[in-house]
Amino acid sequence: MTIIDPDIRKAETLPSRFYTDLETFNSIISSFGENWHFASHRNQLSAAQPIDNSLREPMLLTQVDGEIHCISNVCTHRGMLVCTEESDAKRLQCPYHGRIFSLDGQFRSMPEFDQVENFPTPDDDLRNFPLSEWKGLLFNTISATDFESFISAVEERVGWLPVADFTPDLSRHREYTIDSNWALYVDNYLEGFHIPFVHGDLHDVLDYDAYSTELFDGGVLQIGIANEGEPSFDLPEGHPDYGQNIAAYYFWLYPGLMLNFYPWGLSINLVIPETADKTRIVYHGFVGDASMLGQGAGGDLDKVEAEDQFIVEGCQKGVSSVAYERGRYSPTKEAGVHHFHRILTQ
Ligand code: FES
Ligand SMILES: [Fe+2]
Repeated sequence: MTIIDPDIRKAETLPSRFYTDLETFNSIISSFGENWHFASHRNQLSAAQPIDNSLREPMLLTQVDGEIHCISNVCTHRGMLVCTEESDAKRLQCPYHGRIFSLDGQFRSMPEFDQVENFPTPDDDLRNFPLSEWKGLLFNTISATDFESFISAVEERVGWLPVADFTPDLSRHREYTIDSNWALYVDNYLEGFHIPFVHGDLHDVLDYDAYSTELFDGGVLQIGIANEGEPSFDLPEGHPDYGQNIAAYYFWLYPGLMLNFYPWGLSINLVIPETADKTRIVYHGFVGDASMLGQGAGGDLDKVEAEDQFIVEGCQKGVSSVAYERGRYSPTKEAGVHHFHRILTQ
């Protein structure tokens, strides 16, 4: 049992086995079904699309008459994936032996099954999973319940943005596989401490001393303040940050969801653990104000991403060393990392 001291001044960081040991990795990710995960934006749905996130469970988003369902993508006959790519079909047909389901998952027909007794039953339908929506963003889970408290910190700060009307921009989609544990990627995301050392261009547009970190249940919010003359949000009166030049709201929601709000819109990164030392990073971009693209903190995300990947892949090699076990935290700059490690070990 690993304890991360609640007092950051006394605490030691996560032991290295959290980043390297397969058993530890498996035991952590086996509980991801208890969390909400980003699935898609309502504005980018087709009739049926496989979900790509950290739930290790084949699932589909389907849409019938504007109603969205999250259903199992596993055929109830012999387990083939029903749908392997996005489709606009009016029904789902398993590619293995032709079983047909309606888009809400109900069994419809099956060749060569006339003689089967007591068939079909509800067990032959595709199972439904919980789905929740916040301003067009769709989230799914296996067994999480309280969606309101999951999203409340986001709602409180950026609920005024017309996220439901943002336009999915496929040109901003990215997918990387990196040689690093997923938690190292999250650690790196959760502090602005490294910005002056790692991100020269980003450092030029952000006010390093004003960068702030707020902790909440199940997540962290970091706020980047714009340097003089750099783009910032036009906050509504009465907003808690009214009067400040906010360049970016960086939300991290446990385990691996990052919602990055910039004056141009929203960039989402999904941190998808593959194995102890392999992680997939998936980016989705949603544009609210195209005139703000290419500037400020959210201006060149590819460059920032490459700089971060260089660091986390280097750290993966480092934490695998016999010379490294654990470190200490900066109380002024690493509260977000400490908070994450507390969540991970509780
Ligand atoms: S596995 Fe789907 S029809 Fe046989
Ligand atoms: Fe970074």
